[in-house]
Amino acid sequence: MVSASDGASSVVQTVGLTKTFKDFWRRDRVMAVRDLNLEIRRGEVFGLLGPNGSGKSTTIKMLLGLLYPSRGRISVFGRPPTDVEVKGRIGFLPEESHLYRFLNARETLDLYGRLFKLHPRLRAERTEKLLEMVGLKREARRRIGEYSKGMARRIGLAQALINDPEFLILDEPTAGLDPIGMRQIKDVIRELGEKGKTVLLSSHLLADVEDICDRVCILYGGQVQAEGTVDDLLSQEDRTQILADKLRPETIERVESVIREMEPNCAVQVGSPTDRLENFFLKTVESAQASNIHSAGAQAGGALPDFLGTTERAEDVVSSLVSAAASSTRT
Ligand SMILES: Nc1ncnc2c1ncn2[C@@H]1O[C@H](COP(=O)(O)OP(=O)(O)OP(=O)(O)O)[C@@H](O)[C@H]1O
Ligand SMILES: [Mg+2]
Repeated sequence: MVSASDGASSVVQTVGLTKTFKDFWRRDRVMAVRDLNLEIRRGEVFGLLGPNGSGKSTTIKMLLGLLYPSRGRISVFGRPPTDVEVKGRIGFLPEESHLYRFLNARETLDLYGRLFKLHPRLRAERTEKLLEMVGLKREARRRIGEYSKGMARRIGLAQALINDPEFLILDEPTAGLDPIGMRQIKDVIRELGEKGKTVLLSSHLLADVEDICDRVCILYGGQVQAEGTVDDLLSQEDRTQILADKLRPETIERVESVIREMEPNCAVQVGSPTDRLENFFLKTVESAQASNIHSAGAQAGGALPDFLGTTERAEDVVSSLVSAAASSTRT
């Protein structure tokens, strides 16, 4: 069934979305998401970024109808997220996979195919193709419970794709993957984007996000701190960036000396371009922290506690134990 708003350009729209978790006495305990206005457009790969506890997973769960908002409105494909028709058009990879430990990978995909009422032949065909895609074909007969974290992540992604969803929601898709797996998943996400799928992903791996997302939004304290295309967010009008293939140190020195000569007041910084979004992210979060925006999430970590590293050296411990043992046998 096609809804009236199917031709609309946005897949997700939230207005004033707020989620407060209550304690036992129904008092507001944590405001995980506050007044979030989010728009995810059809066909884009959208990145939800933010430090631990900033409200990414809570937002995702509300979009899926797994959590009810305390306030505000959500529409997914122009409908409420709890609508059954909407659920059939979404693929979801949760932060933690909730797969049946006693099923093997092939049985798992087959089960999800059944839940979406796929024809047996189509189910079998998609299962094999997805196993191939995530590199688990050879291990497909092993129980999921025996899988390593990264292998479980891979089968989770395959599960999220079994219904050929129009909208794919991935909560930290590359967590626990090895570099090859990360690269493959990134390629898969990029290809899905090129095929016109809409993808929402949350991630901490900023270099990955920078590579694959059309637009990103940085959350802190459940609020949007910055939103836009990666290029827009990073373009700083008062700066000039020169991008080149890797240069030899002598070349860099020469370039630096030319700039110093021609523009004596100009600050020059040489670095790898992949850390651009990381710098922007850190600056955004630091400025949110500096302006005392309340966050129910993790705080910036502090210094190494002083008890660490002050223990006696291993040899000293051993020799004190030996002398204690010797004196106890003497008495
Ligand atoms: N079921 C819950 N009950 C109480 N508080 C919750 C619940 N779920 C989330 N929270 C709180 O809401 C805040 C946001 O959590 P959320 O899981 O959305 O963060 P996140 O951005 O996904 O973090 P991470 O990067 O660590 O996955 C946190 O303070 C968390 O403790
Ligand atoms: Mg999370």
